[in-house]
Amino acid sequence: MSNDAIQEQIAYYRARAGEYDEWFYRIGRYDHGEENNRRWFDEAAEAMRTLHGLGPVDEALELACGTGIWTRELLTVSKHITAIDASPEVIEVNRNKLQSSKVEYQQADLFAWKPAREYDLVVFAFWLSHVPPERLDEFLGKVYRATRSGGTIFMVDSRSEQTSAAKDTPIQMRGDSVQVRRLKDGREFNIVKVFYEPDRLREQLAAAGFDADVKLTEKYFIYATGTKR
Ligand SMILES: C[S@@+](CC[C@H](N)C(=O)[O-])C[C@H]1O[C@@H](n2cnc3c(N)ncnc32)[C@H](O)[C@@H]1O
Repeated sequence: MSNDAIQEQIAYYRARAGEYDEWFYRIGRYDHGEENNRRWFDEAAEAMRTLHGLGPVDEALELACGTGIWTRELLTVSKHITAIDASPEVIEVNRNKLQSSKVEYQQADLFAWKPAREYDLVVFAFWLSHVPPERLDEFLGKVYRATRSGGTIFMVDSRSEQTSAAKDTPIQMRGDSVQVRRLKDGREFNIVKVFYEPDRLREQLAAAGFDADVKLTEKYFIYATGTKR
């Protein structure tokens, strides 16, 4: 996957910063009715409880922190968070939302970023699916280097489920790992999207040096915890 694809993905999330939360909070074109919405939030709460169970820790690193949905949860279990994202726009939303002196933001492209230190807990929510498959080992190698020995990782991501997506843009793949996304104003972008199955994810995390426990929620999410060997 070319560098252009990585840049298009960054451009997509920059342009989407102001409407991103509508997806997670099931608003507008992401509102799939009371039953689906309730299930979504129940299943998200299951993953959040798992994250809460990994604390308390002193130092956490959040990769692709976005608008702060998971940063907020991480704040309840970590004394300090380093939160990295490529988009200055989403970092601004996150900063304004949380207004916390415990969070230190860094704007960086994770494909160029190199970990400079180790953390007790490393978190990446709805990010791994956007890592091109041929760069997965490289990315997980960075996660390994950023986690202290015996430290933990937490990830959560999407299962392939049409009621996850915008009602006007059903999941539409180009090949195995490229998805077409549309903003409210109609602009279209190609982004990387890989839907993981538990066995494959567990193997990938094991190969990267983590003893991992991977779970599916009933309909919407896959989440994992891992301990660095
Ligand atoms: C699906 S969102 C997830 C955001 C947040 N973790 C959450 O779950 O709400 C993906 C995030 O990755 C960021 N991103 C995209 N490409 C990136 C890159 N190359 N380096 C760092 N962040 C990137 C986007 O700006 C966006 O905030």
